[in-house]
Parts: sequence; C-alpha cells; structure tokens
Amino acid sequence: MKYILGILLSILIIYLLLLLLLRDGQSNLSFETSELNNIPLKVPTGFLWGTATSSHQAEGNSNNNNWFLFESEKDNTGKPRIKEGQKAGIAADHWNRYKEDIKLMKSLGVNAFRFSVEWSKIEPQEGVFDESALDHYEEVVDELKASGIEPVITLHHFTNPIWFEKKGAFEEDNSPNVFARYISKVVKRLNKKVEYWITVNEPTVYAFNGYFFGEFPPAEKNMDKAALVFRNILIAHSEAYLAIKQINLNAKVGIATAIYAFDPNSWWNIADVVGAYYANRNMNEEVLDYITNGRFDFYFPTISKLEYQSDVINSFDFVGVNYYTRFVIRFNPFNDKSYQEVKQTFAEYKTDMNWEIYPEGLYRALKQVSTFTNKPIFISENGIADDGDTKRPSFIKNHLLVMNKAIADGMNVKGYFYWTLMDNFEWAQGFSKRFGLYKVDFNTQERILREGSKVYPEMIKKFTEY
Ligand code: FCB
Repeated sequence: MKYILGILLSILIIYLLLLLLLRDGQSNLSFETSELNNIPLKVPTGFLWGTATSSHQAEGNSNNNNWFLFESEKDNTGKPRIKEGQKAGIAADHWNRYKEDIKLMKSLGVNAFRFSVEWSKIEPQEGVFDESALDHYEEVVDELKASGIEPVITLHHFTNPIWFEKKGAFEEDNSPNVFARYISKVVKRLNKKVEYWITVNEPTVYAFNGYFFGEFPPAEKNMDKAALVFRNILIAHSEAYLAIKQINLNAKVGIATAIYAFDPNSWWNIADVVGAYYANRNMNEEVLDYITNGRFDFYFPTISKLEYQSDVINSFDFVGVNYYTRFVIRFNPFNDKSYQEVKQTFAEYKTDMNWEIYPEGLYRALKQVSTFTNKPIFISENGIADDGDTKRPSFIKNHLLVMNKAIADGMNVKGYFYWTLMDNFEWAQGFSKRFGLYKVDFNTQERILREGSKVYPEMIKKFTEY
C-alpha cells in the first residue's frame, strides 16, 4: 500500500512540476486600468506613428498573383474559397488614389506608413521586371516623403506572382534566391529614399494558413509541408537581409512576425498545457530564434519535426510585431491532424473576427521579443475589425496604454502601426471585415473617418505633447 501511495505521489509531483515548467510565466497577465492610466505617456524621440496596408488588400488590379487565382477557386465541397465568393478586384483602389490616401494619413497626424510592394506587378514573368511598376512605387515614396511621412516597405505580404507559385513557391529550396533577386531589384531602385524594409510579413501565417489550415493558397493541409515552407521563407528572409545590406549597409531591415498569446484551455490538463507550450514555441519563438541565432527547430509532437541551422545570425535591425489576440489550445484526440483545437478565446469581448480583445497580450508579445533582443521593436500591425465602430476607441486606447507601460518598463518599442488605414480586402474573409480607420464605400470608393477612429490621432497628440 505504502509503495503504491509513494508511486502515486511521485507521479503527482512530476505532473505538477511539468505543469510549472511548461507554463508560460506571463499567462493570465492582467493590468488594472488605473495602473495603466497612472503611467505618464511617453515614447522615445523619433517614434514612428503609422498605419499599415498591403498591396493585394488595398491597391486593386493584382491579377497576376496566387490570390487572384485562389479567389476564383472552390474547395472540394463546392464552396468558394473567399467568403461569399468575393474577389479583391480593384480593392480600395489605392494604386490610383494613393495621393488622396496620403492626405488622409496626414490628417491623422501620423509620420509613417507601412505598405507592401506587389511582387507580381514588379516581376510579372520570371526575370522580367516592369520598370513602370517600380516608377509607381517611387512616386508613392516621393509623395509620402513630401508629406513628412516615413515609408516602411514590406517586400512580401502573402502574395506570389503566378509563375513563382506554379514553380512551387517556398516549397522549393531555391526560392530564397529567387526572392532575393526580386528584392535586390526593388531595393536598388528605392534605397536612396527608403530607410526601413520589412522582408516578409508573418512567415507563420503564410506557411500555416496556406499549407496546414488550408485557408490561404494553395489550400493544403499538410504539416510537413507547412514546416518546410516556414523554414524556406525564413531562409528567404535572411537571404533578403544580406542582399539589402549589400546594396546599402545603412538600410534598416526587419521582419514582421505575428505573435499571438497562446494559453491552455485548462491549466490542469497537461495535454492542453503542452499544446499551448508548443504553439508558442513554434508560432512565436521560432521566428525570433531564427533571426537572432539562425536556429530553426520546428517540432510538433508526434506529427512533424524539421531542424535547420543557418550560418546567418542576427539577420535584423528591428523586429516588427503584429499583435491581434489570444488563442486557447485544447487537446482533442479525435483531430488526427494535430490532436488539438485552436479555440478563439475564453472571453465574451470579441472583435468581428471573433478574436478576443486582450491588450495584455501585446505586453506579453513585447516582453517575449525583448528576451531575444534589445534591438528596436515596431508594432507593425495592431487593429480591430469592428463594423459597428463601438469597440474601436477602447481597443486603440487600451493597446496604446499597454504599449506605454512596456516602454516605461524598458522595452525598446520604436513605432506603432495601426492596421489598417482604410477598409480593404481581408483575405479569405473578403470585404466583410472592417479594420479601417477610414470606412470605405466600395461602390464609390469614398473614404470617411470613423468616429471611433478619432481616438488614434487624439492619443498620438497626447503622447507627443509630453
Ligand atoms: C494579419 C495580416 C494583415 C491583415 C490582418 C488583419 O495577419 O498581416 O494582412 O489581414 O491580419
């Protein structure tokens, strides 16, 4: 009897120790509003206040890329890939209306704009570059600079030219070289005018939505492929970093990585805790580990494993953090693809994306990045889909207050970019999800500043008055 009790007790102790070990020390982080309000608003000098967009979502007429094809496809149940069968089409017509849009930025009082250049417009066929597309982006840059707005250019934001997609995109081991050739072309043209470059937007979202969850092109559901694509797009990042530095050593180069807070559905269920641990490890830390140490060790227990060591380390001058929400991981033995479910949240308070509003997660993200590096961090995306426009003001305010606390606590945050300037094509959700500070009427392309957005310029003012 004693013997059995001893064994049971040891198992219990090991179980509890494992729980403690795998538990994210920052989970359940929660701040009192009064605490946040008591911290004087202060950002470092030269802070970038901006908004963000991407080419396919905003520009229009991106009809030579993987998303263009995807938007006409149906899945094997006959359902269109995009909600209600929508297509990006002319989107927010930003290609033609960029001057007007820059005026809209100016009236917000921002001093930076993050946007992506469309690879499929710049290199419509392999090795053939369209100088007129580069002319266009140069004009946008000139207009921004003339308005006192710092351009921050993303070189890859989910879209690939059709020729590249047909060749296997980032499944191919040669893809980083192909990518580096394209970005060299862009950087050579614009580097005298552009200081900030983001190589790749959200490597995890690109790889996993496209190759594991099947929600982005090419709609595959294969974890090994997702891991391979994830690795190759990170290699593409470090190759791009080297290529840009070769052209201009003073360029500031970073990556925009999605960081979510991941918590277990139940703190007592070790399977949930392990799931959240690996979600955090694979989805958040992997990118940070790769850019700082060149280390890639993707491991999803019992499903997939891929290791790689790059000889390029410290391949960044800043980290871009895209932060939106928290996800909850729940063990599910019946899901044989991952043995888990990614649930939206514990909370009632959600955005139109059904995402929990959890500002503390931004603090967790910034802290996590700060454990890897002291280099500058830009919050390269943060925003809310809120068609009713009732939650936007508190969303913006609370995330900025949390950012302010992170800065007061010594984190090296040097910029904040609200996603997004004006409503646009929200990928698989089509036009239904309204993240814009400006509401867009897609029949007339009229832009109107939402009431709830006004808190953004007001907060910028308060921050800069101090
Ligand atoms: C991010 C994407 C961005 C936008 C927001 C809502 O994952 O980078 O393009 O769709 O989500």
